[in-house]
Amino acid sequence: MKHQRIVVTHYGGPDELQVVEEECPEPRPDEVRVKVLAAGVSLPDLMAREGIHPETPRVPFTPGWDLVGVVDRVGDGTYGIEPGQTVAAMPINGAYAEFVCLPQSELVPVPPGLDAAEAVSLVLNYITAYQMLHRSAKVKPGQRVLIHGAAGGVGTALLQLGRLAELEMYGTCSSRGATVVSDLGGVPIDYQRQDFVKEVQRLTGEGVDVVFDSIGGSHIWRSRKALRPGGRVVAYGLTGSLKAGRLASGRSGGRHRFRAIAIFGLYIAGGWLLPGRKRVVPYSIQTLKRVKPALFRQDLIALLDLLQQQKIKPLIAQRFPLAEAKAAHELLGKGGVTGKFVLVCQRDR
Ligand SMILES: NC(=O)c1ccc[n+]([C@@H]2O[C@H](COP(=O)([O-])OP(=O)(O)OC[C@H]3O[C@@H](n4cnc5c(N)ncnc54)[C@H](OP(=O)(O)O)[C@@H]3O)[C@@H](O)[C@H]2O)c1
Repeated sequence: MKHQRIVVTHYGGPDELQVVEEECPEPRPDEVRVKVLAAGVSLPDLMAREGIHPETPRVPFTPGWDLVGVVDRVGDGTYGIEPGQTVAAMPINGAYAEFVCLPQSELVPVPPGLDAAEAVSLVLNYITAYQMLHRSAKVKPGQRVLIHGAAGGVGTALLQLGRLAELEMYGTCSSRGATVVSDLGGVPIDYQRQDFVKEVQRLTGEGVDVVFDSIGGSHIWRSRKALRPGGRVVAYGLTGSLKAGRLASGRSGGRHRFRAIAIFGLYIAGGWLLPGRKRVVPYSIQTLKRVKPALFRQDLIALLDLLQQQKIKPLIAQRFPLAEAKAAHELLGKGGVTGKFVLVCQRDR
């Protein structure tokens, strides 16, 4: 049986995303073949395509951090898992495909009746948001937080989970995202027209307890200025390294996995050395998953439960057929997206 997957053969722009048709992969021992229903599209995918995300594989590779699908075939040595069961996984790359083979240990059962696109939004975006709130920042009700990129995929997840945690929330966004941010309980700050440090000081008096910084580089420094003494910046993204979806530096075409995070490290170290009791702590979903896989599983199960109880509702900005991954990357790169882009696999078999 043939299937489609998306392949990046050179690092670069959206044109590098090629649709290939080939034989379906067969599960090896301890693996399960999953028929993908939904695969998330996120900025880390664009960064891997450009060759600058720390997790960028060597070309050729299939992008795609997260997926929800149905078990299609099981390999030797698997147990307690049946064809037809819905599962979620975060393979980091490879999810832009109709069929994927993964170790059984990577799969988390998804309760019946959930929308696959909403469920897949939990895997990368909501686990990131949940772990930063409750494991990195250990937020308490009434605390003030500033969320950068608040109308985006991780940003809207932070707002929804922050509201459940009874936080006072401020969110930077462009004017296009202001309504979404206020609807989700945040005070929007237009990062293109306002100085967010001054605006936070004006609105709060002494600054916020936590800043979630997805922009990276020298922006981390400005985020630190928005803290009250004793506060912390959770630094987790490199959005600033892209401009209109391409490398801000313009040096595309290579695999530069450590360039952006080296600068990131300098700011984190500086946060510890400078006076003012203001810390910068890094967060990485993939590192925490590798070090403590049980927490990843536990947190995803908790989030799936919140989704089932309708306590959270991921915002799906748009659904694209798998073969239109290039269009999804182009649009996400242009910006102004509120919520998550999802690739859906619909071909009947
Ligand atoms: N460390 C981890 O474990 C981890 C996990 C997941 C994601 N991430 C990182 O999180 C970041 C966000 O990913 P995502 O998928 O949520 O992206 P996204 O959906 O594209 O959202 C990014 C948002 O940032 C906004 N933005 C751009 N420049 C900004 C600035 N200077 N100030 C404030 N907001 C700005 C954009 O608004 P406009 O388009 O309207 O300008 C957009 O709403 C990425 O850097 C990604 O690599 C890290």
